[in-house]
Order: sequence, then structure tokens, then C-alpha cells
Amino acid sequence: MGTEGDNGNLVRAVNYPNEPLFLCPQCRNDLPVRPPCVCGFVLRESDGVIELMTEGELAAIRPFLEMYDRVRSDEQWGGDDLDLPFHAKRHRHIWDIRARTFRAFASVAAKSPRGLALDIGAGNCWMSRYLDQWGFDAIAVDINTSAIDGLRAGKKFINEGSVFLRVRAGMERLPFASGRIRLLSTNASFHYAGDFRVALSEFARVLTPHGMIAIVDTPFYENSIDGERMMAERVCEFRDKYGMPESLAGKSKYMTYAQLQGLARSLELNMRIHRVWPGVARKREELWGKLTGRRIAEFPLIILEKL
Ligand SMILES: C[S@@+](CC[C@H](N)C(=O)[O-])C[C@H]1O[C@@H](n2cnc3c(N)ncnc32)[C@H](O)[C@@H]1O
Repeated sequence: MGTEGDNGNLVRAVNYPNEPLFLCPQCRNDLPVRPPCVCGFVLRESDGVIELMTEGELAAIRPFLEMYDRVRSDEQWGGDDLDLPFHAKRHRHIWDIRARTFRAFASVAAKSPRGLALDIGAGNCWMSRYLDQWGFDAIAVDINTSAIDGLRAGKKFINEGSVFLRVRAGMERLPFASGRIRLLSTNASFHYAGDFRVALSEFARVLTPHGMIAIVDTPFYENSIDGERMMAERVCEFRDKYGMPESLAGKSKYMTYAQLQGLARSLELNMRIHRVWPGVARKREELWGKLTGRRIAEFPLIILEKL
């Protein structure tokens, strides 16, 4: 392993004595604190982000990231609007709902023993800074390193005094040793998993015994028919607006409660559903959806505990 930037220090910072935390994304062996990795993987750090994806993985996500970036900048996410979820400048109707879910998550996280915490699909890292404030050793993980809306935007919180690492990696192949993570939150991001079972197995693998996964702000439906209708509508909308192919528009999906329950059971995870009051306007939409046979998504807080 060759190194660039100060990644050696970053890796050392969270490698507790004699307990390597990071896995080499190429050979999946422990990433040594001192280079090189026997397989020849070059660990890079760019603007404070530790790059833990292989060239092949980076090439595979490029089309998605280009499209994602286009839609997110068109919809004006991030940039000067990072003080989330309580002081949003734009998309306030969404952040009002998300702030309620976040509060529910905060009260569950308060009961968790401290330790390493991952913010998976961290985006601009607004939640990572709370994990740090609450006393966790926080690591923001994402495939997106955008300075507007991805990991590099998290520099704002670090400049303001927050302490967390930023790691570029996909949730389906986490570059962390097994059994080390106390709390793993996936905030408005689990529905981007390429394969829900693979991602959830990875989450379970890296957790300590009794460690906790929080799925926050993923769309859930009782019946897949409603989720499929939402997806079909989005495919049409994104095709008309951005010329986006279905393969990319379909990257952001949904879950059903039964689907997650089945996965949780097979992975020996205990599942709890916290339904969060979404506010009057959204509740009215939910009721209207029920009456008209076009149910809309719910965004519960789901807690999965490793047995
Ligand atoms: C809607 S954003 C949520 C960002 C942030 N957590 C928030 O709550 O504002 C979804 C994030 O998931 C990330 N993402 C998508 N696919 C991913 C994957 N396979 N592995 C890790 N992150 C992924 C995207 O890059 C994006 O930053």
C-alpha cells in the first residue's frame, strides 16, 4: 500500500491498539497502519476523505454519481444549506418531517453505549456531527465526495470543531473489520443499496453484539404495489426532466415492512418499528392516499438490534 496525504495519521486515529479497524477494499485483509498492503492497494486521502474503494468500484458508481449530482444540484440540495435538520433554508416541508424522525433517532441513540458509530450514506455529514456531539467515535461513509452535497461538504462541521472521519465506501462492501461498530445509522440512504440483503448483511457483520442499526428516512409501504407505482412515476419524471435511463432512476428504491422483517429474521436481527408523527399536512396526504387507493410512503424509524 502506498499512501498519499495524511491517511496514515487518519488510519492510526481510529485503529485502537492492536485492533485494526479498516479492511483493505481490494484484498479484504486488515489494512496495516504502516504501508504497504501486500496486495498493492494504494490508500489515498483527498481533502480529508479516506478513499477505500477499488478502481473497479469507482468506475461502476460513476454514471450514478454524475446523474445524482445533476438532480441534486437542480433541486438545490446542500451548498449553503447544511445546518440540518433544524435550520434548513430550502425544502423546509421535508426537513420539518425529517427533524421529527431525527429526534426519535436521537432518543434511541441516547440509550446506546458509546463506541464507534457509522453514518452510512452520510451525504454532507450533518448527522455525523451529531454522532460526534453525543460522544460516539463517528465515521461518515458515502460513495459521494461532492463538496456541495457529499463527504467534502462535511469539512464545514470539522472546521466548526466536530471530530469525525470521512470514508469513501459503498454500503454493500464496508471496509471495516467485523464486530466493531456499536451504532450504524443509515439516514435517507438505505433505499439506495444495490442489494438490500447484501447491505444489511454487511451492517450486521460490522456490528458488535447487541449493536444497533437505525434505518432513518427510507420510504416504507405496506404493499409493494404502492412502492412500484411510486417508482414508475419517478422513472417517467426523471426520464422527461433529465433524460435519465430507468436503470439509474431506479437506484433509489423503497421497502415493505414484511420484506425488512424477513431479512431481519434471516440475519438474526431484532426489529422494532417506531412510527413517527409526520405532521398534519403529511398525515392528511396519507389519509387521502388510503381513501383513493394510492397510498403514499411512510418514513418510520426502524431499529435492528444484533442478537
Ligand atoms: C438522500 S442522500 C442522504 C444524505 C444524508 N444522509 C442526509 O440525510 O441528508 C443519500 C446518500 O446516499 C449515498 N449513497 C447512495 N448509494 C450509496 C451506496 N451504495 N453506498 C453508500 N452511500 C450511498 C448518496 O451518495 C447520498 O449521499
